[in-house]
Amino acid sequence: MADNRPIGMFDSGFGGLTVARATIDLLPDEQLVYLGDTGRYPYGPRSLDEVRKFSEEITRFLIEEHDVKSVVVACNTASAAALTHLQETFDRPVIGVIEAGVESLLVASESGRVGVIGTVGTVSSGAYQKAIVDEAAKQRSDVALTCAACPGFVEFVERGQFRTDQVRVLAERLLAPIVDADVDALLLGCTHYPFLARIISEVMGRGVVLVSSADETAFALRRTLHGTDLAASPRNPGESPNHRFLSSGDVAWFEELGRQLLGPELLEAERCDWT
Ligand code: DGL
Repeated sequence: MADNRPIGMFDSGFGGLTVARATIDLLPDEQLVYLGDTGRYPYGPRSLDEVRKFSEEITRFLIEEHDVKSVVVACNTASAAALTHLQETFDRPVIGVIEAGVESLLVASESGRVGVIGTVGTVSSGAYQKAIVDEAAKQRSDVALTCAACPGFVEFVERGQFRTDQVRVLAERLLAPIVDADVDALLLGCTHYPFLARIISEVMGRGVVLVSSADETAFALRRTLHGTDLAASPRNPGESPNHRFLSSGDVAWFEELGRQLLGPELLEAERCDWT
């Protein structure tokens, strides 16, 4: 048995495209319906209750309108606010991005001094702090964590500004506590941040490994589908899935910047409206 229904994926905007890219590469038979909630981004400064409400609304929309077989919450803020709630509310697998990255972070660190950066919502939720304590209990006891919120990073990415002087100045200021803590591994705890990886890496220095949860989330999705009736049937050579991309904001901008960030699979974007 195989299941050729699509996988739903969402983020506040472009950030989840890092997870979409990793998923398309790792699971080439699977079809995606990706929703960027650009009409309501950024999620980071909003209350966790509000982000939970948005996340439930989007998950219901993906299930009811697109009959998705599984949902990937490709946003750390939404994962922090809503993952457990979504898993309890909906009758199909819902996967988040937080736990996936934490395991790799602790494996990547030699010294045990690690950092996590994310939105204000993610960092203040305590979700990473808890996930790291849980993972450290399994892996190692010498973990010292430093967290920093990076307000402003998401907005630069959404405007398509990845390497400007303004981004660098902001990065130097916001990452200072992490640099001071002398970490050797830093988790990009927001799916937008891999697009700023070059500047973040230059500010942190060469000795610091950057860990993104995008690949790890794609692996977690593969573990969920592989060997079950939920996996799609193998496609014929040369036949690619018809991925769909939806935006609740400026669709033309989503199409233009989205294609630059994700690649040629983002042929066109469709409008989705919240009533
Ligand atoms: N990509 C989202 C995350 O991972 C960004 C949140 C936002 O819109 O502020 O948290």
